[in-house]
Amino acid sequence: MPDVVYLNGRIVPPSEAVISVNDRGFLFGDSVYEVLRSYGGRLWALNRHLRRLARSLAAIDLHTVDLEEVRAAIEETYRASSLPDAVVYLQITRGVAPRAHAYPRDLQPTVVITVRDVAPALASIDFDGVAAVTAPDLRWRRCDIKSTNLLPNVLAKTRAHDHGVDEAILIDAEECVTEGSSTSVFWVAQNRLFTTPAGPEILPGITRELIAEIAREEGIPLLAERVRLDQFRRASEVFLAGTVHEVCPVIRLDDAPVGSGRAGPLTLQLQKGYRARVAAGDDELR
Ligand code: PDD
Repeated sequence: MPDVVYLNGRIVPPSEAVISVNDRGFLFGDSVYEVLRSYGGRLWALNRHLRRLARSLAAIDLHTVDLEEVRAAIEETYRASSLPDAVVYLQITRGVAPRAHAYPRDLQPTVVITVRDVAPALASIDFDGVAAVTAPDLRWRRCDIKSTNLLPNVLAKTRAHDHGVDEAILIDAEECVTEGSSTSVFWVAQNRLFTTPAGPEILPGITRELIAEIAREEGIPLLAERVRLDQFRRASEVFLAGTVHEVCPVIRLDDAPVGSGRAGPLTLQLQKGYRARVAAGDDELR
C-alpha cells in the first residue's frame, strides 16, 4: 500500500482511493504521468517534472489541467507523508465518460498522487553495477510523451526480471538502441560519452537532462547518436539514468561483460557529479 494517496482534490485513506470503471485512464490508457524523487525532505527537480508534464498534457490535447494546482497538490501530499526519501507518483487521466474512443473535451481530469518510501525500490538496484538484457522495442511512435500506455515496457521489464537482471535495453526495428524500459541509456566508446538523440523514440528523461548539464560543467563532451546493437556491445561503459536508478552502471549485457565488467571511470564521475547535485539540492532549471 502506498503511504499517502491524493485523489481529485483531497488526501484519502488508500482504501477509499477508488476510480470509476469508466475512467479513460483505466479504459484506454488515456493519461499521462510523472515519477519524482525526494531527498532529505525536499522534492527533487519538481519544476523540471512539471515542465515535462505540461508538454505531455499538450501532446495528448488535454488542456484543462491547472499546473499550479498540480504543484500545490504534489507538495501537500508529499508533506503529509513525512517521508524524507520518497517516490512520488502523479497520474492525470482525461477523466470519466461512458466508453467511446473519441474524447469529450469538457471532462474533469482525474488526478492521482501517491507517495511511498523509496527504500524498497532502491533495495533491488545495485548502484555498483547491474546486468541488463536487450529486448525488442515494441512501443508506439510517440515515446516522448510520458503516457501510461506502458504495456511494451512492462513486458520488457518482466522479461529482464525473468532473466534475473535489472533492466531491458530496448532495440528498435533498425537494430538501434533506444532506451531502457524505465531508464535512459548512456554509453562510452573510444573515451567519448554518448546517449541516444532526443526525439519521438525516447522519453526526454529528467535525469538524462541533468547528466547532460553535469557532463557539460565537467568538460565531458556528450554526443547524441543512434547506435547499432553490434557497436553498443563493444562500448567500454554503459549506464542507465532515471529518477530511481539515478546513474547506474550496466556491467553485463546479455550475459557478456560490458567493458572491463566493472563500472567505468566516466560512469563513476557522472554518478558522483549527480549525487553532488542532489546533495546540494541544485535542480535549478538551466
Ligand atoms: N521512468 N525512459 C523511460 C521509458 C522511462 O519510463 C523513464 C522513467 C526514463 C527516465 O526518466 P526520468 O529521468 O525522468 O526518470 C526514461 C519512471 C521512473 C517510471 O516509469 O517509473
